[in-house]
Amino acid sequence: MGNVNAVILGTGRAYPEGVITNADLETMVDTSDEWITTRTGIKQRHRAADNEYTSLFAVRAARQAIERARIEASDIDLLICATVTPDQILPATGCLIQAELGAHRAAAFDLVAACSGFLYGLTLANQMIRSSQSRYALVIGAEILTRYVDYTDRGTCVIFGDGAGAAVLGGTTSERGILSARIRSDGRYAEQLFSPGGGTRLQPTAETLSGGMHFFKMRGNELFKVAVRSMIEVSTEVLTEAGYKPEDIKLFVPHQANQRITDAVADKLGVDSSKVYSNIAMHGNTSSASIPIALDECVESGMLQEGDLVLMASFGGGATWGAVLTRW
Ligand code: UT7
Repeated sequence: MGNVNAVILGTGRAYPEGVITNADLETMVDTSDEWITTRTGIKQRHRAADNEYTSLFAVRAARQAIERARIEASDIDLLICATVTPDQILPATGCLIQAELGAHRAAAFDLVAACSGFLYGLTLANQMIRSSQSRYALVIGAEILTRYVDYTDRGTCVIFGDGAGAAVLGGTTSERGILSARIRSDGRYAEQLFSPGGGTRLQPTAETLSGGMHFFKMRGNELFKVAVRSMIEVSTEVLTEAGYKPEDIKLFVPHQANQRITDAVADKLGVDSSKVYSNIAMHGNTSSASIPIALDECVESGMLQEGDLVLMASFGGGATWGAVLTRW
């Protein structure tokens, strides 16, 4: 093959049936539907039951993506599971998913880049396919964030939800596929969104558990500004590199962190609001899963057609951020 682009061949999504509404949260912390709706755009978020776990939803989303890509699981040679909420520390959730799918030829691993994990995964898969190291790649974003949410902290518990999304990528010599991809991070922002306990630095003990050290801590207000600035910067970079302008975009699919972040980024980039996809009202912030879930919804509803120019952008804990421009 000559110049190969990596193109998304199929997508899938899955989430728990359980839901927490804003009305539910009103009974748990000092908040209101009015505050949550106007400050975040969220109305409900999915929440896994105690016997549900990350790979369960990842496998369901992946099976759908594989079927839609019209390949077999055994064709996959690269499997990336982006997650900050793995089934367990060892082995990688990617390997557990691999076994469940029967994707035995794949190199499977986990990628920790928080809400940017899916775009990090797409960026790596793109390079592996372009360099012919990989023929079919499966990139999954899967999270059970609610396990790490402190339901006494109104600043975080209203935001996060659970779910999984997946995409299968393959090579094409057509004009379609990923045109430009950029990933970035800055560890100086590490403590703006983090879980201090449970690792080797602050081992899990009765004290760390009772002190809530395994819960997510977030300085949301500070992150907000960095998120808007970074997503605009990196989106502009991928557009410029590929020779496009914001008005050329058919669909903008940002990480669903907060409706106000999405609106601010789209507005400052100059993308018309009619081209911006949002599902935050129904899912909340599902971290690495939010973009692949959104893509799958767009495909299913017919919003996304072959040949459409699609911009994806994300920002998350780390801090990490990235953007991918693709011709669908
Ligand atoms: O996923 C990617 C990484 N994460 C992000 O990008 C998160 C970005 N940040 C956000 O989405 C927003 O910062 C939040 C939704 C988390 C918070 O919204 P905000 O507008 O930044 O609120 P704030 O933290 O500045 O707080 C404003 C006020 C405070 O009250 P006072 O001090 O002004 O009296 C908070 O205590 O709102 C209060 N507040 C709430 N009130 C009712 C904070 N959370 C709530 C709540 N319900 N749930």
